[in-house]
Amino acid sequence: MLFDTIIRGGTVATAADTFKADVAIRDGKIAALGHDLGEAGTIIDATDRLVLPGGIDSHVHFAQPSGEGIVMADGFATGTRSAAFGGNTTVLPFCLQEKGQTLREALKRYHALAEGECHVDVAFHLIVTDPTEHVLGQELPALVEDGYTSLKVFMTYEGLALSDRELLETMAVARETGAMLMVHAENFDAIRFLTDRLERAGNTAPRFHATSRPIPVEREATHRAISLSELIDVPIMIVHVSNREAMDEIRRAQQRGLRVMGETCPQYLVLTEKDLDQLNMEGAKYVCSPPPRDVASQTACWEGLQQKVFSVFSSDHCPFRYDDPQGKLVARGRTSFRWVPNGIPGVAARLPILFSEGVVKGRIDLNSFVAFSATNHAKIYGLYPRKGTIAVGSDADIALWDPKRRVTIRHELIHDGSDYTPYEGMEVTGWPVLTMVRGRVVVEDGVLKGAKGYGTYLPRAKPPAVSAAY
Ligand code: URP
Ligand code: ZN
Ligand code: ZN
Repeated sequence: MLFDTIIRGGTVATAADTFKADVAIRDGKIAALGHDLGEAGTIIDATDRLVLPGGIDSHVHFAQPSGEGIVMADGFATGTRSAAFGGNTTVLPFCLQEKGQTLREALKRYHALAEGECHVDVAFHLIVTDPTEHVLGQELPALVEDGYTSLKVFMTYEGLALSDRELLETMAVARETGAMLMVHAENFDAIRFLTDRLERAGNTAPRFHATSRPIPVEREATHRAISLSELIDVPIMIVHVSNREAMDEIRRAQQRGLRVMGETCPQYLVLTEKDLDQLNMEGAKYVCSPPPRDVASQTACWEGLQQKVFSVFSSDHCPFRYDDPQGKLVARGRTSFRWVPNGIPGVAARLPILFSEGVVKGRIDLNSFVAFSATNHAKIYGLYPRKGTIAVGSDADIALWDPKRRVTIRHELIHDGSDYTPYEGMEVTGWPVLTMVRGRVVVEDGVLKGAKGYGTYLPRAKPPAVSAAY
């Protein structure tokens, strides 16, 4: 038999083109695209289906230490399982360096946790929280050569935030080594000041999380991150952008020819800060940073996608269980929003939301959907063309979509380790009905077909000199 599998009769879409073709697969790779490709061990009927590159989610958190007494709801098994149910074939979780730890120690922990657990392929971004001379001078350059070619830095959060000097030092190493630098842009001192003031006034409910991190906090940090990167002449990715003012900072930088990229997420397209304003602690389900804003901000984020100010659409999946003293209902969270774990789940809902609200409602075209959901992630983070497209020689990482299927999002469809989804009850049109990783079906018609441990670790190339054209 010439081929292992042929996906027959579907409509293939890449970031560039949409065309009718059969997809033939051999040894986990795409071997041919065409018609009348002959026989194969397995034929998958893709009539009335879209045949898309499997989603790549370049912003997820699994098994990340999250403060005393707090446990993240997903490790690698449940996190990658949920990713597969959402039409994803590769995820990029973060490897957090804790203060005092070396990057290699941190990596050892994450590799041990991921080993034998993953349903889809995985690569790690590093989070640098302790940029010592050893880390910046020796570890980071060596790790970039070893295929850890991206890192995230924080401008906020206790124990994670870097000073401007540390940001500059880290940016300089990213430039020298050719790594992609992701920036969480919020002003730490402003947040601390506003949080203290809110608490003194007795404003401690979850909804005040949004009040403590208003748009200027994000805009200022975005502007500062861009200015610092300009001094170093290094490309940066501003992650989880929530509003027009931050988006406009990125747009202006791009118009000036700076290599500044942006990412937005589902929570900024379909949630608002009103979701945090609920009875009792229900609002804690939506506490994430930056917080969801308002309808005008949602419109701005769509504009950022339509006008390609943003290159990637990621979930920022950062799951905590709700009804759990180690999750959103941690005892001290009732005393102040300050202690509610930051982050919401979204790895499975990301693509159905973008497809339904974006493609079905005519805000973006199908090829842009593919670019935002897969191709641009692969290009920016050094996985292209192995991942992120449907082309001869690429890994057979494919999601079949039923573009007409109407689904009400329920937590039971998400298959993660959390106990809720912030998108419960949302009606979407379009759903991934089959997810294939390197030629093997891992989820079909809502049923897990793959086994833990099939997903593999992916060392990455250095990101190409990233242009604003992405
Ligand atoms: O609230 C969020 N976004 N938590 C995840 C950590 C981060 O900043 O990405
Ligand atoms: Zn962040
Ligand atoms: Zn995040």
